[in-house]
Amino acid sequence: MAINSAVPNVEKKVLLASLMFAAAMLGLIAYAAIRLGISVPTCITNVKPFEEGELIRVAPGRYEAHVVAKTWSFKPNRIKVERGSVVDFYVTSKDIVHGFMIDRTNVNLMAIPGAVNYAQARFDKAGKHQILCHEFCKSGHDNMMGWIEVTP
Ligand code: CUA
Repeated sequence: MAINSAVPNVEKKVLLASLMFAAAMLGLIAYAAIRLGISVPTCITNVKPFEEGELIRVAPGRYEAHVVAKTWSFKPNRIKVERGSVVDFYVTSKDIVHGFMIDRTNVNLMAIPGAVNYAQARFDKAGKHQILCHEFCKSGHDNMMGWIEVTP
């Protein structure tokens, strides 16, 4: 009888201790957010220039491509530059890990949520280069691609 009545008391103490611990953790998070100004990091795709993904012409023959990967496409997925152009690629992901590879170039990046990866390529021959996702990203992976068109 004494043992039976003791068990609930122990459980109550454990429950109380865990509630106090959880309250202390919430208090620390609130303290960090309000008094120290520390906030939880936001997704990179919520800030410029990665809200949508775009190709920016910074000078004649010089481009910046801000590429956002998501299941199962790239934005932009059609990039058009003139022959001899140099393109800086900044690549991130909106959801899960994807790949970003441009055929017949050295560009081979991972598109990672919360991070931006960089590569540069020069396009000296007119024609088309395929962009491929080379990281298996579930059912639509095989169709996740884009094109770079190099005009004469
Ligand atoms: Cu995206 Cu495979």
